[in-house]
Amino acid sequence: MPPPRSGEGGRVEAQRLRDVNLDDFKRWPTGISELDRVLGSTPHEGVNLSGVVPGSIVLLAGDPGIGKSTLLTQAADNISQVVGPVLYVSGEESAQQIRSRSKRLGISSPDVFVLNETDIDMLDTAIENTRPNVVVVDSIQTMRAVDSTGAPGSVAQVRACADRFLRTAKTLGCAVFLVGHVNKEGAIAGPRVLEHTVDAVLQFEGDRSQAYRILRAVKNRFGSTNEIGVFEMGGMGLTPVENPSALLLSERHGNEPGSVVTATLEGTRPLLVEVQALVAPSHLTQPRRSTTGLDYNRATMVLAVLEKRVGIRLGAQDIFLNVAGGVKVTEPGVDLAVALATAGSRADLAVNPETVVLGEVGLSGEVRAVPHAERRLQEAARLGFRSAVIPSRNARSLKENGTELPGMKITAVSTVREAVELTFGS
Ligand code: TYD
Ligand code: MG
Repeated sequence: MPPPRSGEGGRVEAQRLRDVNLDDFKRWPTGISELDRVLGSTPHEGVNLSGVVPGSIVLLAGDPGIGKSTLLTQAADNISQVVGPVLYVSGEESAQQIRSRSKRLGISSPDVFVLNETDIDMLDTAIENTRPNVVVVDSIQTMRAVDSTGAPGSVAQVRACADRFLRTAKTLGCAVFLVGHVNKEGAIAGPRVLEHTVDAVLQFEGDRSQAYRILRAVKNRFGSTNEIGVFEMGGMGLTPVENPSALLLSERHGNEPGSVVTATLEGTRPLLVEVQALVAPSHLTQPRRSTTGLDYNRATMVLAVLEKRVGIRLGAQDIFLNVAGGVKVTEPGVDLAVALATAGSRADLAVNPETVVLGEVGLSGEVRAVPHAERRLQEAARLGFRSAVIPSRNARSLKENGTELPGMKITAVSTVREAVELTFGS
């Protein structure tokens, strides 16, 4: 049960913040390490507990077919073995369909209950009868509250249903996972209506044609929004990938012009990714600029810096930028890698495949420091990288703190021009 609220029993008394008891603040592990990591952790009786918070409501959003039902079926199985009954409600699949998937996934927990239902009143009855500790609703867009107007999936319906689940979660102290499909505009379906209602929004991303999936918290009242979880979709469902850098670099060819590896930092975990650029003469009056996995505006800013501050002519070129493996990189620390990949492809020169590149690029062509350079370089070293092009400010603090890595040759740069010259030697 959730802790009692102040005011219950007629007394209203504020509590000293430092006296607030965290022992009530439990978490239930989903048994899927990467999902638990994204849900967050709290210290509990001397250990760090991670997983879902009882009484909370979590929205799992993503494109159709990305693996939401798969992930929650697997989680339902694990959680039920720890906390007891889990109710999986589906408005999309029949009980037979869910069973056939779970059979394939090797799931046989006696405490997972399924129900094919879309009427939320019926659902309440089922919850009363089953007394689950965790409820999975697949998907919120198929649910219908009779007292609300509109068709299932409409803003009014989605909001009304989410409010009902919120009340269920808070009064019964059970955790609720809502599945939400992302609609065509890319907003979390039932548009963004749900974001305010729920405690956490987890976004499941990835290229459906590839095996990797990234789970990202875009909102989390009980944890950090920086953590990501990495999964691989295979014949036995989703498997956590504990060593994503190695996986993401596994198909790299090495000595290709336009390929540069950078170490990004997502939450507490460094991730090595390959940035690819293809610069080719354009036959269009307005040459193409396209990015996959990178922020479009930031990338075009880096291209403008290459033109204006370094003097690389890109005006008549089509430019395609890509992060290999279907990963999305949102932090500016990837800028310098984008710059060097583009410059390399333009000049047909390769960057040494054992070099990792870090740095944010500013409008005047300066290379700015990235946070936690040391951790990023450690991950690169672990995967066999022997040299690094990094912002001078980072290089200086590594030296001052004595945290330089043995066997890693550091090239410190303060401008993009310097980075291009030192990398390609002209
Ligand atoms: P699903 O979880 O149904 O996606 P969502 O609920 O987000 O719409 O899974 C979608 C795809 O995953 C489906 O095309 C089949 C594939 N898949 C596997 O590759 N392996 C598996 O073990 C399972 C269960 C699904
Ligand atoms: Mg589904």
